[in-house]
Amino acid sequence: MRARATAPAKVILLGEHFVADGGTALACAIDARVSAEARPRAGGTVRIESRMGAAEAGTAPGDGDGAVPPALRPLLFAARESGAGGLELTVESPLTPGMGLGSSSACCVAAAGALLRLARGSEPPIKDALDLASRAERTAFPGASGVDAAACAHGGAMLYSAATGRRPVGAPGDGDPCSPRLVVAESSRAHSTAEAVARAGRFRDANPSEYSEMRSSAGKLASAGAHALASGDLAWLGWCMSENQALLARLGASNAELDALAEAGGGLSHGAKITGAGGGGCAVALADRGRAPRTARAFLKAGARRCFTARIDREGLEFP
Ligand code: MEV
Repeated sequence: MRARATAPAKVILLGEHFVADGGTALACAIDARVSAEARPRAGGTVRIESRMGAAEAGTAPGDGDGAVPPALRPLLFAARESGAGGLELTVESPLTPGMGLGSSSACCVAAAGALLRLARGSEPPIKDALDLASRAERTAFPGASGVDAAACAHGGAMLYSAATGRRPVGAPGDGDPCSPRLVVAESSRAHSTAEAVARAGRFRDANPSEYSEMRSSAGKLASAGAHALASGDLAWLGWCMSENQALLARLGASNAELDALAEAGGGLSHGAKITGAGGGGCAVALADRGRAPRTARAFLKAGARRCFTARIDREGLEFP
């Protein structure tokens, strides 16, 4: 038997970093999907292959882990925890890792779906796959807020906080003239989420009252942005994104290259900012259909290494 599953990448529109510290974020899944396939393997070992490399280890925790690169360990954890026994797991992703688009969460969610489907012989509920993917992701980054995995598992747009969990947000459908386009620009550097979050933590510890005001402002922007998205008011949502970029720059999550991208992308669109942990990774601009190509050209002229236009993907984890 072969078990397949796919999951979308994500973009944080508003509120990253602050969400990892009790704040609220607005996030959405995008139509760039990761796929995973799990199949039984004779010999009682787990073999994993993805664009991050290939490795093999035993099915028991600790058995052969030293030979597994750190980037593959969350997938190894998920494979073992799924209870599927000896297996081969292949993960295919169109995403550049470390770009802030939820590549590792999307890989964990798709892998968890495929692994549980193999172990159970039937499609698992999304909540089971999300639980396994979140535990796998936290083996690499214990401070994860859960917003990335929730967006990849459920799809669509959502407000998210640790206290309330996921609150779905409606967004104009694709045929609607207010349907947003997300123009994504990759900078020259991949980032480490753990390092970027630690940097933000140092800012918080050195400036507690300023930080707490910034977190509250980011939460208000996320709530306002959710209303704007639901009502198709892209100008308002874009304004929220540009305001949020100023907060992220103060927090130390941006850098000169990302500032330049956000400025160039924001000029021709409704607004732009970094997305995800920052310190490298991507900038994203909110455009309407007509302005997306010009925004992409502005990003490339400002030095983006690669640029693509995405839509909100309403589908989360799927079993094709
Ligand atoms: C990463 O996409 C978003 C962060 O807020 C970390 C998290 O929420 O887990 C930086």
